Amino acid sequence: MSMRLQASRGIAATEGKRLSFAHSASAFRAASAYLAGGVSSNVRSTPAPHPLVIEKAEGAYVVDADGNRLIDYYGGMGPIILGHNDARIGRAVSDQLDKVVLAAGQSAIEIEAARIFCKMVPCAERVRFNISGTEADQAALRIARAATGRTKVIKFEGHYHGWVDSVLWSNAPGLEDAGSAENPTPVAGSLGMPASSGAEIVVLPWNDLPLLEARLRKGDIAAVIMEAAMCNAAAIKPREGYLEGARRVCSETGAILIFDEVITGFRVAPGGAQQVFGVTPDLAVFAKAIANGFPVAAVAGRADLMELCAKSVLHAGTYNAQPLCMAATLATLQLLQDGSLHDGIAARGTRMMAAFTEIFDEKGMPARVTGFPQVFHLALGVSEPARDWRDVLKSDRQLYRRFSTELLFNGVRALERGVWFLSAAHDHKVVDDTLEIVRGVVKSL
Ligand SMILES: Cc1ncc(COP(=O)(O)O)c(C=O)c1O
Repeated sequence: MSMRLQASRGIAATEGKRLSFAHSASAFRAASAYLAGGVSSNVRSTPAPHPLVIEKAEGAYVVDADGNRLIDYYGGMGPIILGHNDARIGRAVSDQLDKVVLAAGQSAIEIEAARIFCKMVPCAERVRFNISGTEADQAALRIARAATGRTKVIKFEGHYHGWVDSVLWSNAPGLEDAGSAENPTPVAGSLGMPASSGAEIVVLPWNDLPLLEARLRKGDIAAVIMEAAMCNAAAIKPREGYLEGARRVCSETGAILIFDEVITGFRVAPGGAQQVFGVTPDLAVFAKAIANGFPVAAVAGRADLMELCAKSVLHAGTYNAQPLCMAATLATLQLLQDGSLHDGIAARGTRMMAAFTEIFDEKGMPARVTGFPQVFHLALGVSEPARDWRDVLKSDRQLYRRFSTELLFNGVRALERGVWFLSAAHDHKVVDDTLEIVRGVVKSL
């Protein structure tokens, strides 16, 4: 199918025609004979009516197997900060492809990427690169346990730190399993996890400083790991003083404070949420926006902690700092470091957030818009501010699913869980087109 035809179908989407996803549907049925569940990651199986086959992506758009040109707010689930297939990143990667793909040695681009990284991120005196956020989170926890000689880790309800057994506890628990708000029952995030994998995890509600302080004062906690703003399930900011309080009590009790900035890192500001909120953790984990879609993650932090990796703490990985990925990382960080792209996205994102509030107000439908202009969350059926995971559960998620499905049929691809990722390619025209479609869909809800 020619790009011309694809583009014209996309324009039709903004003219009110309902899109068809028949080719994606039949490809998904065929895929299910080979790929378990038809996908390679469970989070890709949820979008209604079925996962789409994406053939091309450019700027703020993706083009699917049916030739639909959709305005995209998945952002690859967060990494796409510059826009899809940014030519500057593509050139850096293809130049590197001519030089070396993998030599298991050091490279000048890795060293330069590390230098810029440490300049941008407040806590980063040292950094190590990984491939996925999941493994970088594991590295941070290992370093914290080695440094403190303790094993217990506090994590929070609704926060996600990767899909492995040791941390996949209470990431999205239902109320029926979750116990009391003050003393939640750890809930396994998957079948197949031994109960022993949660033995070192203490689950607390997020954004409640007295509860966190009381638990830390027992003096047996190796690390507190949190999303500094809860962006995976929603986009909830910390209560005033919460991060500062957590910082202070961690220092007083000898626990390592870890910010999981896999979503917020390089997205909400050049130095991530720690820059925005002015609170510096001991260690932090980054991924997603660090390389605009290439698989790169990083653990970073205080030199004395990170240097344990040079001694008795094993941190390894065949593909760590893979040269093509480092070329993408270096080029992305160079573009993000002065913050002007973040400011541009902020202008458009702020306009979108305000317009969403207005559209639902006009309709007389309760809605809540929270977060940052570069990544925000829309919840329906609720209007009071969300503080934690249990507040996320109060929203009308079935209605939201109907809303996001209707958006898709009208040309806007937005995540069913309510999170909207903007990129530098989402210009005012893209925002205008999106708002027109959203207005139409809300009218019909
Ligand atoms: C906050 C957070 N931490 C960790 C991860 C895991 O990262 P990855 O999927 O790269 O393993 C994610 C993934 O979405 C995340 O949102």
